[in-house]
Amino acid sequence: MPTKATKRSHRVKPGQREEETLRVLISHQRIRERVRQMAQEIRRDFPKEPIHLIGVLKGSVLFLADLARELGGEVSFDFISVSSYGKGMDSTGEVKMNKDLDVSIEGRSVLVVEDILDTGLTLKYLLLLFEERKPKHLRVAVLLDKVERRIADVKADYTGFVIPNEFVVGYGLDYDERYRNLPDVCVVRLGPRGKTKIEV
Ligand code: PRP
Repeated sequence: MPTKATKRSHRVKPGQREEETLRVLISHQRIRERVRQMAQEIRRDFPKEPIHLIGVLKGSVLFLADLARELGGEVSFDFISVSSYGKGMDSTGEVKMNKDLDVSIEGRSVLVVEDILDTGLTLKYLLLLFEERKPKHLRVAVLLDKVERRIADVKADYTGFVIPNEFVVGYGLDYDERYRNLPDVCVVRLGPRGKTKIEV
């Protein structure tokens, strides 16, 4: 059966697309509270220190924007864009750079900001890349962590929520570039029987 539409669900049927039902997994209110706590944890570790945020495009944009406002103090931004090939268990782990950082991170306190940690292959690539550039500190904040999907031996320093292996969208995360603007993190289910047909 389709996931039951409730007040807390977004139910959509765009054009001729197969019916998609979105079930709220983490509400915007919970996200807001957790992002505030994460900012406090980060500021406890780096009081008064300028923090250089590196957003990994595109999914991290909303999280970075909210985290930056909660951090307060001196904060700067930069962005990087990478693509990874093959997200299955047989992934080669190959990551391609689409857009590098604009400025040097040497000597800076850097916080990599990711929306989701899945296989960990993207983060592993980024950490190796950034470590070579000699930052003063290199830390990672992720909003969502699918721990059971991990292939690479990496972990975040600050984690918002550990989530199950479901296809999630919203708050920056997309399905075919849609749903990034949803305020909540939702699980997508497709089809009239509500069967999950998307493989992550
Ligand atoms: C997502 C996410 C991470 C990466 C994590 O990006 O933002 O960068 O996947 O996956 P991994 O742990 O398996 O490497 P995505 O490729 O979906 O691009 P997007 O942020 O532009 O949506």
